[in-house]
Formats: sequence, C-alpha cells, structure tokens
Amino acid sequence: MEQTKLLDVRDVSKAFGGIKALSGISFHLYEGEVLGLIGPNGAGKSTLFNVISGLMPATSGEIVLSGRSLTGLRPDQVSELGAVRTFQSASLLIGMSVWDNVHVASLFRSKWHRTSETAADCTARAIAYAGLQDRVHSVAETLTMGEQKRVEIARALASSPRLLMTDEILAGLNAADSESILQMVLGLKGDGISVIFVEHDVRSVMRVSDRVVVIAQGKKLAEGKPEEVARAPEVIEVYLGGRYAQHH
Ligand SMILES: Nc1ncnc2c1ncn2[C@@H]1O[C@H](COP(=O)(O)OP(=O)(O)O)[C@@H](O)[C@H]1O
Ligand SMILES: [Mg+2]
Repeated sequence: MEQTKLLDVRDVSKAFGGIKALSGISFHLYEGEVLGLIGPNGAGKSTLFNVISGLMPATSGEIVLSGRSLTGLRPDQVSELGAVRTFQSASLLIGMSVWDNVHVASLFRSKWHRTSETAADCTARAIAYAGLQDRVHSVAETLTMGEQKRVEIARALASSPRLLMTDEILAGLNAADSESILQMVLGLKGDGISVIFVEHDVRSVMRVSDRVVVIAQGKKLAEGKPEEVARAPEVIEVYLGGRYAQHH
C-alpha cells in the first residue's frame, strides 16, 4: 500500500546561543502512524515539538505538513493546519472548568475537516473521547493527575488535529492511568489521527509505536521498527542500557 507522508522534518537544527539543541534532524511520519520519539534528558525532544508547533523558529531546515511548509507560522496557524502538541508540564487553565479548558482549545481548531462542527461540538466530542463526561463542571486543579492528563489530551483533540504530539504524557501516572492513556493513543489511529509519542518509559513507547526515532544530543541516532531500534548497538549503548537489551 502506498503510504502518504503527513509530516516531513528536513534537516532541522535549533541553536540556543552556543547550545545546539537540534543538529540536522530529518525524519517523516506517515498518515495513521504512531511514531515514538525517545532519547535521554536534554536530547532535544521538547525542542523539536516547540519548533514543529511554531512556538519557536528553527535555526535552519524545513518542516512540511501535508505538503505545506510550516516555516514562519505561529502556533495557532500550525494548529489550524492540524498539528497540535501537549506540554510536558501541565498547561491547564487554573480556576477554569474542564469544559472551559477544552472549549478554549476548540477555538483554534483545524480547518481541514468536520467543518460543520461548532466549537461546542468539538468540545463535547473531545471530552467524551477522553472519558471526562462526569467531570465537565469540575475545576481543573481539583482533578486527579490522571484526569488532568486526559484534559490535556481533550484540549489537543478539541482542535480536530490530524497530528497529535504528546510530550511525556505518562509522567507521574500510576499503572492504571498510564494504561488508559496508552489505549487512548492507540484508539486515535482508528480515527485517522497520527501521533508522535515522546515518552520516558521506553516499554510504553515500544508497545504503541509503529516506528521509533531515537535522538541524543540533538542528533538522530537510530530509526526503525521498535524491535529493530531496541537491538541497535548504538542505541543500547547510549540510551537503553544493557539491562533492557537482555530482557528483549
Ligand atoms: N528555551 C531554551 N533556551 C535555552 N536552552 C534551551 C531551551 N529549551 C531547551 N534548551 C536546551 O536544549 C537542549 C534540549 O532540551 P529539550 O528539548 O528540553 O530536551 P528533552 O525534551 O529531550 O529533554 C537542552 O540542553 C536544554 O537545556
Ligand atoms: Mg522534554
């Protein structure tokens, strides 16, 4: 089957003064794929999301979403084209209800599909998808950690993305909450939403990803199917450690 590229990251670099956070990163994402992105702390994962989502410009290189260059676009414009991300630290609006948190995000929804849906339709759909119907009126900060992460996902989904980028969405969650979020990520594929999944927990990444990209110190180290990447000697050495390799 011919696969269509949804996202094409071409030779992207990002420097902060003398720090090269990203050095010539290239990879692509096919429509309907879950791509795992792993790498040690400081590897450049969040910076990559910041650059793709328009929060900061790349120093060089180009990012193309469905044939359109994202160069120079603001986050709301990237969101309207269908790419959204979640934040590593909670970004919920304190003092506001679940509904209002998600509704705000729905105002920046992408223009590419479901055009007859109102912002309220999108909000309701995203809240239902995240299983938060019972918490619609709850104020954000009164929710459990697991529920707050689900609001993060609902906020992202309210914009009707075709690409969702999750940044360490499992951090701090117990096993049951992690599992329900992993199932949610897998379910997105069935709805035609592609995912770039940044996660510290390598086992979870290997479970949900069709392919995995490994970066370290801003450079791409390896790319391939989860089982290939887990066996790549350079990955084992730099990141996964001998213990993971022995058990797989
Ligand atoms: N806004 C920033 N200003 C300066 N340096 C930054 C900024 N954001 C990230 N960095 C640096 O870029 C590198 C990559 O960071 P980051 O993308 O957060 O890594 P990861 O998400 O993989 O842990 C680190 O050295 C970090 O200190
Ligand atoms: Mg990060």
